[in-house]
Amino acid sequence: MGSVRAIQGERDLSPVAEKRRPSGVGTVTAVFLLVLPLLLLFIFFGDQAVASIAHYPVWQRMKSQSTFALFLQASTHRSQGTGLCFMPPLFVPQIAGSGNASSSRNPDITTHDHLLGGLLSPEFDAATCLSRYQASKRWKPSPFPVSPYLVEKLRQYEANHRRCGPGTANYREAMAQLMSGRNADHAECKYVVWVPLQGLGNRMLSVVSTFLYALLTGRVLLVHEPPEMQGLFCEPFPGTSWVLPPDFPYTDGFSAHTKESYVNMLANNIVRHDDGDGGGDVSSLPAYVYFHLEQISLRLQNHTFCEEDHRMLDRFNWMVLRSDSYFAVALFLVPMYRGELEQMFPAKGSVFHLLGRYLLHPGNRAWGIMERFYDGYLAGADERVGIQVRVMPFIPITFESMYDQITRCVWEHELLPQVTDTSGPGAMPSNGGRSKVKAVLVVSLKPEYYDKLHSVYYTNATATGEIVTVFQPSHDQDQHTEALAHNERALAEIFLLSYSDRLVTTGFSTFGYVAHSLAGLRPWLLTLPDRNTMRPAEVACVRPASVEPCLHSAPPLVCRASQDTDPVAHVPFLRHCEDVDIGLKLFD
Ligand SMILES: *[C@@H]1O[C@H](CO)[C@@H](O)[C@H](O)[C@H]1NC(C)=O
Ligand SMILES: *[C@@H]1O[C@H](CO)[C@@H](O)[C@H](O)[C@H]1NC(C)=O
Ligand SMILES: *[C@@H]1O[C@H](CO)[C@@H](O)[C@H](O)[C@H]1NC(C)=O
Ligand SMILES: [Mg+2]
Repeated sequence: MGSVRAIQGERDLSPVAEKRRPSGVGTVTAVFLLVLPLLLLFIFFGDQAVASIAHYPVWQRMKSQSTFALFLQASTHRSQGTGLCFMPPLFVPQIAGSGNASSSRNPDITTHDHLLGGLLSPEFDAATCLSRYQASKRWKPSPFPVSPYLVEKLRQYEANHRRCGPGTANYREAMAQLMSGRNADHAECKYVVWVPLQGLGNRMLSVVSTFLYALLTGRVLLVHEPPEMQGLFCEPFPGTSWVLPPDFPYTDGFSAHTKESYVNMLANNIVRHDDGDGGGDVSSLPAYVYFHLEQISLRLQNHTFCEEDHRMLDRFNWMVLRSDSYFAVALFLVPMYRGELEQMFPAKGSVFHLLGRYLLHPGNRAWGIMERFYDGYLAGADERVGIQVRVMPFIPITFESMYDQITRCVWEHELLPQVTDTSGPGAMPSNGGRSKVKAVLVVSLKPEYYDKLHSVYYTNATATGEIVTVFQPSHDQDQHTEALAHNERALAEIFLLSYSDRLVTTGFSTFGYVAHSLAGLRPWLLTLPDRNTMRPAEVACVRPASVEPCLHSAPPLVCRASQDTDPVAHVPFLRHCEDVDIGLKLFD
């Protein structure tokens, strides 16, 4: 690897500083009352923006300055306000990547929105999970406002999880009911148990989807953590745990053939889809239902996202869910959820971005890996370009073709400068200053893309005189989902990618989806080779319509009707994915 650049003096906050929180509601109320008249003015700009402000931890930034002066400043200098970087995301949703106010240079908690616009609860001890309040320090300001309704739902969810979570009397009662073999009549608490499937990217997509499902249905989300996931993520809900207790009996052997699968219960007349509206006796239902949402040939099963099925599924107190898919998108196809979803996500293209940032906090081991690498190799650069290369086993493409496609993409779109054929000194910066340094972070299971890029930029000068440094944190060769250390490195690298200023990711890769969506960046998506000829695509890379992940496997919408329909034709905020023709994706 090349020389490690000097680390800028950015150190982490002490746990003590992290814990310092507004001491009482009084301060909040006072600030809010002062701001109120101006807030009312802003109602004309949309009540959403105003309400977002009302929920925003404004007081943290307003301690030493006059509220009115700040507000006036905020409305006139939207883009460069010093202590006011919270304003632009609320009023002028910016395309991430266009701003240059680097949060990484500014570790001070008074300027870094560690609660993500109210998304995160302030109730945690920061030291137990360093990433929770520090992850956002290196992200660009989010391009999406957080709706106050979403914040309210999250706080309600957290309260319910505390009431029903492991260790509570409610949980013991629900377990007793489960073991009795029958569904309960009037249960206090309902649960969805998430069981992992496939690699880390798929798991992150499906657990976020399951959490959204839990939010919509009032269920408590519990995750089964096999050894390779232990401590990989922090607890996301304060004062309780989301880890499924080890004595839970049903975590293994689930498949489409499981007899407790909802679709099999339908086929075997254990349940009827039209019983959801009150017919039948809920206590005669089986003790739990298994919801199988694994994609098979890029489709989910029939009868998984129809309204009547969801009414029926609702009647089970216990659900075990196993999925490899970003099925959050499919929840938008169920009319009974639409109203809630619209209120939670005024911007449809922000679902994973917001929920992922809310839910997925790397544990301290993964975080340490991320931090050492970022501070050692990337922090000092003027710009960071992430390149994620995933060669799918089922889409064989030669190294030369893939490398050629990557360089076409980064050169055509001027993400990186071209090289000249001299190894002598390059062009001098016209302003006489030092050369700009672009750091390239290559994330790949294979070392050869890094090797070649590194040697090209190491050997030759660039046409612009910029210096391009190239780094790769690890190259495990093969995916090892079963190994905790492998998953920790992979998670660290997802976050490293998410701290890029610009991102190149590989089409179809769930790993890439998670990285750019957490970042809030629309990547340059490397297109897949032609399926018939296996020749590299003519267009090297495309810009997706939103930062959302793609649901590769659309659910059939035949339901009880005979005709399957393409939801894209009926739902204005859905489109097919840039990289998977049949896939579905949210956008605005
Ligand atoms: C942001 O960019 C503008 C113009 O490109 C420049 O004048 C300003 O100093 C930059 N600010 C920071 C914080 O880098
Ligand atoms: C789903 O439903 C359609 C239409 O009824 C049918 O053609 C198809 O075979 C079904 N798929 C499965 C896996 O049952
Ligand atoms: C740059 O360096 C590599 C060797 O690392 C070499 O193969 C290549 O031809 C050089 N020149 C250009 C224009 O890429
Ligand atoms: Mg995958």
